[in-house]
Amino acid sequence: MNLAGKKILLGVSGGIAVYKACELLRLLQKKGATVRVCMTDAATEFVAPLTFASLSKCPVYLKNGAVEARPFQHIDFPHWADLYLVVPATANVIGKFACGIADDPVSLCFMSCTCPRVVAPAMNVAMYNSPAVKRNLEILRNFEDTVVLESPAGELACGEVGQGRLMEPAEIVAYLDERRALTTNKFTEPAEVNVAEKGEGLPLAPAAGASSATPSPRGAAPKTPEPPAFPVASDIPPTQDVSLPGHGKKVLLTAGRTEEAIDPVRYISNRSSGKTAVALASVFYANGFEVEVVAGPMEAAFPGGVAVSRVQSAREMHDAVMDRLGTADAVVHCAAVADYRPAHAASEKIKDSRSQLTIELVPNPNILRDCTAARNSAGQSHRQVIVGFALETDHFEQHAKEKLAKSGADALLLNAPVASDSGFGHDCVRYSLVRSDGAVPEMSMGSKVDLAQEIVDFVLEKLG
Ligand SMILES: Cc1cc2nc3c(=O)[nH]c(=O)nc-3n(C[C@H](O)[C@H](O)[C@H](O)COP(=O)(O)O)c2cc1C
Repeated sequence: MNLAGKKILLGVSGGIAVYKACELLRLLQKKGATVRVCMTDAATEFVAPLTFASLSKCPVYLKNGAVEARPFQHIDFPHWADLYLVVPATANVIGKFACGIADDPVSLCFMSCTCPRVVAPAMNVAMYNSPAVKRNLEILRNFEDTVVLESPAGELACGEVGQGRLMEPAEIVAYLDERRALTTNKFTEPAEVNVAEKGEGLPLAPAAGASSATPSPRGAAPKTPEPPAFPVASDIPPTQDVSLPGHGKKVLLTAGRTEEAIDPVRYISNRSSGKTAVALASVFYANGFEVEVVAGPMEAAFPGGVAVSRVQSAREMHDAVMDRLGTADAVVHCAAVADYRPAHAASEKIKDSRSQLTIELVPNPNILRDCTAARNSAGQSHRQVIVGFALETDHFEQHAKEKLAKSGADALLLNAPVASDSGFGHDCVRYSLVRSDGAVPEMSMGSKVDLAQEIVDFVLEKLG
């Protein structure tokens, strides 16, 4: 739909993505829309109202604004608008919208507007997956003239990976521009709609004569049972979405680090945070794969929808992986498994005797090699795709080639924790995906989500 001449009220609540609302405002203006802004107090802590006032060339509606000069702003603004966009929508304002609380400009406008409303949530993945937010979003989706935009999965500002990102401003504009419907045909094409109420505005509801079972809760025209035109806000889990390339396929991931006991209180381990494994689990899941993870200790948290079994030592991880191998179409060995463990773990805490102590180390089982051996002995009937990881600090190409040849894997993700801002615990890493049938590509810097996407693409290519 042509946004030219449309009057859009932009409600801004207090999340880290507030700065993206500035970009959205500019993009809407470029399309010819007039934009006014209301903000919560929390939002003003992220971006000053002066920025929005300057961009929109209109005073921003604030809780402690010039009430005497404009006492009915909470009515005037929403009634002026053809469309109310809440970007970003915090967990907090979503809860207020769902429960009918109206104690700040953004929630007040939500309650008092009579135009269509589009809500773009943005928050941390744990908040997004919390039962309260899920329930509140579901309530909003069922409001007659409210659309909840999808929160894409990916890297979040807090450093975690998962669902909860703000839909990109350009995508929001594209959605409005094309005015495609989400889970209902709430925003239908102009020819089908009753525009009498607002004349030039975006339509509230389908034309008279369209069949309906449910009267509108806000006095708008009734819902129609027509199917969705563009189900981006679908509640279908990715694993049930037959259109996704990984549908019907299962990936087994190892994640985190292992801890090898020296005595009941001490262990040998490494610095792996598990962030790469979380990125992999998220991207595989988003591509429709059933994702099973065998995870050692790690700080990063997995998104919902992923089955996680916890282990501690390399031998526990080995046994758990071998038990689960049979049903996997692909196995990605992302865990930082200790190569060695103490030959004997003391049953009591080792006392400080002030004399030199030697700990004898013995090799741990090689999980990657045992997996490829198991696959090879199963023959061609079960052609699993196997990807290993190699963290190297020197002679990258030579070590990667040797490890890949010895392991029998289809590819090796070569990575290096050489820069101060990449590798362990960070969101970026230097890496290259070395295929068994190709040369060693030069390592480049990328996010762990980029790395995960490259592995997922490789696995999909191999699975055909
Ligand atoms: C640095 C920082 C970033 C935050 N980012 C978000 C966010 O992205 N989404 C969210 O729902 N809450 C976020 N919060 C929490 C909200 O700011 C907090 O719940 C606040 O009360 C929301 O107020 P509002 O909904 O009235 O704007 C963040 C808080 C801080 C300190």
